[in-house]
Amino acid sequence: MYVSASLLSADFGELKEEILKVEKAGADMLHIDVMDGHYVPNLTFGPCVMDAIAKHATIPLDVHLMVEDVESFVELFLPYKPKFISFHPETTRHPHRLCEHIRKNGPHPAIVLNPHMDINSIKYLLPSVDMVLLMSVNPGFGGQKFIDTTLQKAKELRKIIDQNDYKIFIQIDGGVNGLNASDIELAGVDIAVAGSYIFGSNDYATSIQSLKKDFLNE
Ligand code: DX5
Ligand code: ZN
Repeated sequence: MYVSASLLSADFGELKEEILKVEKAGADMLHIDVMDGHYVPNLTFGPCVMDAIAKHATIPLDVHLMVEDVESFVELFLPYKPKFISFHPETTRHPHRLCEHIRKNGPHPAIVLNPHMDINSIKYLLPSVDMVLLMSVNPGFGGQKFIDTTLQKAKELRKIIDQNDYKIFIQIDGGVNGLNASDIELAGVDIAVAGSYIFGSNDYATSIQSLKKDFLNE
């Protein structure tokens, strides 16, 4: 699996060092959790902090928007040229239009499913996205416990993607660690987001490697 390191669990007082450390440790992307205090009960990164992140990052940025009025946040984050912009479909009246807008401006559009949400609810959006992010915790905070039903959802999504020959990455976000990584990969997930597991460890490289291990080819 690829690893997107969630900066939510980084030491914000040492943000530049944390970015450099996690890049050196082998992270494939930096996951930026944007929260507005409305869609989720937490506040995180805005453009001022993004300026600092973008200045020091050399690996792709993976922006996860957990906000209301998502269209205006997309405009705020497009200038940073992230690899992915992920949004929750219920935060806009027109998810399909927003996917097209994101794609037209460079980033790969991605849609996020909260733990209770069915894959069928985004069936007709799949041809318009390059990634589906499956939330394996309720959005808003790092350090929560992985919700096991997400594995079944990943397997179902993998099947739909393969059957239709879609070019879509499956990303999973929340409660990922060295113990559940093999089950996650076996469920067909391509990209694991991990925050507290990486930044809460003494050795970022060992933690990242334990997620990246190619379980399928062992
Ligand atoms: C939660 C965020 C996650 C969070 C994951 O709303 O979307 O990206 O940082 O943190 P961990 O890996 O600690 O569960
Ligand atoms: Zn996230």
